Amino acid sequence: MSKERLVAFGQRGLEHFQNGTQDRVDQIFQVPAENYTNSDKWNLEMENVFRRLPLVLSCSSELSEPGSYHSIEVLGVPVLVTRGEDRVIRAFLNSCTHRGAMVVPEGTGSSRRHACPYHAWTYNSKGELVGVYEEEHFGQIDYDCNGLVELPCDERAGLIWVTLNTNPVVDIDTFLCGYGEMLEYLGLADCHVVGRQVIEGPNWKIAYDGYLDLYHLPVLHRNTFGPEGGGHAVYDSWGPHQRATRPDVYFSKLEGRDEDDWLISELVGGVWTIFPHVSIAGFDANGKIYMLSQLFPGATPGSSKTIQTFLHTQPPDDEQADLVKKQMDFLRIVVEDEDYFTGLRLQRALNTGMKEFVNFGLNEGGGQRFHQFLEKMLNTTNDEVSTFLKDSAEK
Ligand code: FES
Ligand SMILES: [Fe+2]
Repeated sequence: MSKERLVAFGQRGLEHFQNGTQDRVDQIFQVPAENYTNSDKWNLEMENVFRRLPLVLSCSSELSEPGSYHSIEVLGVPVLVTRGEDRVIRAFLNSCTHRGAMVVPEGTGSSRRHACPYHAWTYNSKGELVGVYEEEHFGQIDYDCNGLVELPCDERAGLIWVTLNTNPVVDIDTFLCGYGEMLEYLGLADCHVVGRQVIEGPNWKIAYDGYLDLYHLPVLHRNTFGPEGGGHAVYDSWGPHQRATRPDVYFSKLEGRDEDDWLISELVGGVWTIFPHVSIAGFDANGKIYMLSQLFPGATPGSSKTIQTFLHTQPPDDEQADLVKKQMDFLRIVVEDEDYFTGLRLQRALNTGMKEFVNFGLNEGGGQRFHQFLEKMLNTTNDEVSTFLKDSAEK
């Protein structure tokens, strides 16, 4: 894995801390306000981003045992993720071959067989049809051709990506642009899923802007974690995937120490985003608690849903449960009462149509890169997606 990349980022962060500077891009960038409200734009985003690219749907550690599963509905698509008895992770359209009923209700669990609640057709964890109720009356069918519809699915760095399309246009490694091996440093595969909560929010991009925006931390979050440090940012990127870190909070402790003694755990701080819909932030709490935020567009351009999944480096027990509960409550306040409270009002103002642009400053290069990448992705044909991602990985 590329520790050099972490060290180089640490050096850059330390330098910014020592000079009181931060990453800067060349120009202020304006994004049309209607990008956050326009239905045609939003439909294109659903088609060319959310239904075309791999999305993080599940955590490996929650599906570590053969037969474990996660049923989740994403953008109206019911998805079943399972680990087969061969330990391979697979994803399926969670819709029965008989007449389409949802086979497994939403949630996680473990079962080697899944019986459809409508007429009890049964599937195994490889999605194969293994039983037809009263087959002698139904008639003979070919089991081999009647399994659940499989969706592209891959596991990297303790996360499980699924594409909501049976004809994928890009493979996971091309999509990740080398970011997968960086995410390995977080050690998510060895963490325990200890909690989950859902928060309703504004347009998905308003929410995603917030994850890449460190400028607001000392202001909007002045009563929560703002006072920990300033609003300066240092960014690193792998294609569309970006990491944003506060130099004063995370790199000050590297000062005066030999680089060989810098610990991985000291070099991975900050927010790790995964285009187009995930952010991962770590918090010290008897080990580390990671908040994995999966942001999904809602039914309209002005709404979204964020699933916050909490992963702890420590196994769950009563003592940890208190700690986790406190951290979850704290982060609900930060995100719901501060970030999304602000975002939902911002959304209403943009919905008036009276504003032409919003602005991203020289210090907001992360947000600029996100919008610029997104715009290009929206105008990329299926045939061009892989090449576009490979090119962007090299920049
Ligand atoms: S729809 Fe599933 S068994 Fe009939
Ligand atoms: Fe925030």
